[in-house]
Amino acid sequence: MEKIMSSVFLKSKYFFGKGAIFEAKDELASKKYKKALILYGGGSVKTNGSFNDLITLLKEINLRYVEFGGIEPNPKTDTVYKAILFARENKVDVIFAIGGGSVIDSSKVIGALTANPHLNDVWEYCLDTSKLVNPSIDIIAITTLAGTASENNSGSVISNSKTNEKYGVFTPSAVPVCAIEDPTYTFTVNKWQTASGIFDCFSHLTEQYLGTGTFGWTKNYLFANLKTLLKYAKTAVDDPTNYEARSNVLWTTTMALTQLAYFQCESTDWAVHTIEHSFSGRWDITHGAGLAFVTPTYWKLRSEKDSWFKDKIVEFGKEIFGVNGFDATIEYLVNWIKSIYLPTNWSQFSEIKEITEKDIDFLVEHSFKFNFAPHISKDFFRKVITELAKIK
Ligand code: NZQ
Ligand code: ZN
Repeated sequence: MEKIMSSVFLKSKYFFGKGAIFEAKDELASKKYKKALILYGGGSVKTNGSFNDLITLLKEINLRYVEFGGIEPNPKTDTVYKAILFARENKVDVIFAIGGGSVIDSSKVIGALTANPHLNDVWEYCLDTSKLVNPSIDIIAITTLAGTASENNSGSVISNSKTNEKYGVFTPSAVPVCAIEDPTYTFTVNKWQTASGIFDCFSHLTEQYLGTGTFGWTKNYLFANLKTLLKYAKTAVDDPTNYEARSNVLWTTTMALTQLAYFQCESTDWAVHTIEHSFSGRWDITHGAGLAFVTPTYWKLRSEKDSWFKDKIVEFGKEIFGVNGFDATIEYLVNWIKSIYLPTNWSQFSEIKEITEKDIDFLVEHSFKFNFAPHISKDFFRKVITELAKIK
């Protein structure tokens, strides 16, 4: 293995645990913000106490605020642009993004474009960030759904309202300055979204593991996180107010997608995410559930192609599932997916009525155009997607 250079930047200050938001009070007061934008989704934050806590906090630190709600899952360029105009009009200098990955992802693009009024095309920015002149205004993330790790990374995955394309953009200056994580805010997340968030994290960990030249320390870090996730997943899904399960899942999901999780690794393998984004772009399905559907097929076909990949799956099966051999690992994976009520075929997604040849072409083109796994060819994407289309 060649010598690899890694620079690690963990910008967020974490406040974790029941009542975490009030622990952040002094930190937030010291920032001397003038006016905040509270950004949220379809309203779940108003049913689980998190929104009320935030208002209480803002009043305590005398910070004026305006609200923008309605960020949808798989956030769309049109909605994000409306929020940017609202933020500019109200001259806000900080965004409190309260919700799941969709809200926090959106806040980073909104923060960046609010600070750069010469940029007005959200999609263009997603494809090319080079015209950004000023750093984003500050983002404070208050996570209410464990999964994406958006609270401590620079990523935003945005969907084009017109073309159904979905793409991830990175805005380093918009990594949240504070990540506020109160596990009790996640008590109200339903089974489907809880399991989807868990599988999203599973995918982040395995896709960073399934590259080449995995650094010893990092492999152990990934395995430790996977073991924790597996230990608490089912309880978090079936017993939603179990604090121990919810808190372990929440912290694992956060730690799964920082620069530590691929520290000193030669390569990673983001093919499952690349393929899933084409599905959630095309049909607006839930991201983590889509990953669960894609993963077993990708692992099987990729292992037929590359023996070292198969060896890693076997090592993973032994270490994480406690089973021996490739077939046993895939079987365990599929059963685990079913045990947390996630889909193993596409007809389990109410949004997908059929997958036509035209759809397959769209998915293949999308995967190749927005490829986070450049070592995967278009032909191989077609092979995997064609196989997935058969699993009804
Ligand atoms: O909109 P509201 O009413 O808030 O309801 C949401 C939404 O319907 C609901 N929810 C969130 N917290 C809740 C709750 N319901 C009850 N109680 C709570 N406490 O859950 C639904 C889904 O929310 P969403 O934010 O869309 O889910 P998630 O956190 O899984 O985010 C998915 C998005 O993140 C992107 C995905 O592609 C997708 O667009 N990703 C972002 C990443 C990043 N920034 O690094 C990496 C990921 O791999 C991922 O691609
Ligand atoms: Zn993901």
